[in-house]
Amino acid sequence: MTIHDIDFGQLYRDHMRAAGGREKPPEAWDARAEEMANLGDGAYVRDFTARMNLSGCDTLLDVGCGTGAIALALAPRLRHVYALDYSRGMLDVLMRNAATLGLTNITPIRLAWEDDWSDVPVCDVVTASRSTRVMDMADALAKLDAKTKRRAYLTSLVGGRFIDAEVAELLGRARPALPDYIYVINLLHRMGRQPRLDYIDNDNRLAGAENFDEFARKVAFSVGELTDEQRMRLRAWYDADPARGRRGGAPFRWAFVAWEKPASLPVGIVGGAQD
Ligand SMILES: C[S@@+](CC[C@H](N)C(=O)[O-])C[C@H]1O[C@@H](n2cnc3c(N)ncnc32)[C@H](O)[C@@H]1O
Repeated sequence: MTIHDIDFGQLYRDHMRAAGGREKPPEAWDARAEEMANLGDGAYVRDFTARMNLSGCDTLLDVGCGTGAIALALAPRLRHVYALDYSRGMLDVLMRNAATLGLTNITPIRLAWEDDWSDVPVCDVVTASRSTRVMDMADALAKLDAKTKRRAYLTSLVGGRFIDAEVAELLGRARPALPDYIYVINLLHRMGRQPRLDYIDNDNRLAGAENFDEFARKVAFSVGELTDEQRMRLRAWYDADPARGRRGGAPFRWAFVAWEKPASLPVGIVGGAQD
């Protein structure tokens, strides 16, 4: 057996199912739109956009755009931006923020990863930032690639968990990690692309609490209401190393994956190449 015998698309789907991944309805995201608009994650957006090459590019398609972290940051540098998301709440907040910023070159597109993308325009640049938690990665990458004229950029989980593994375990939520970026790299390789890999270090979503009560509130916001037993275990973990508690545990890292579409050969050259 060689690596060529591995069906990475199937492996990813199997892993996602084994990890308990499920499609979330758009309403679950609608409810988070106002909160996401105030995330204050400028460092992540700076790190993401600084790694992009926009030379020769006029148009952007931002998939799973949310409230527009990437779309709004790039719109002033482009002729037109298409912001795709299946959550009406997210798109509403994005368009409200665009109006506040005086940006008139953004078109919202309400579609899911899983929908028919026939009417989605092909753009010079395509991004999918923190929005690739899909059930079928092979299909998602094929869609991104098909809509890319020049360059594509996405971020994917490293390690497959959104909160510190130790914290998850002491809350009794130690389910298997979700599939991470390594599937993306292998699938793109299989598609004939040559992906570049980088990393963006981000604040852990439980970071920044000044004391245990604030930390417990952050945990509850992330995983749901805590039982007395969970709160007790969490308190012991926090008190054992309050500095670690203030960091929210281990740092959070995104994989940043970039690829280019090969320039098409001029008519007449295709088929003429020699080994
Ligand atoms: C964590 S947010 C990321 C938003 C933004 N790209 C950013 O980096 O801040 C994930 C976004 O993906 C969208 N999303 C999740 N599943 C989706 C699906 N199946 N189809 C389309 N959008 C989806 C959600 O509505 C949400 O806006």
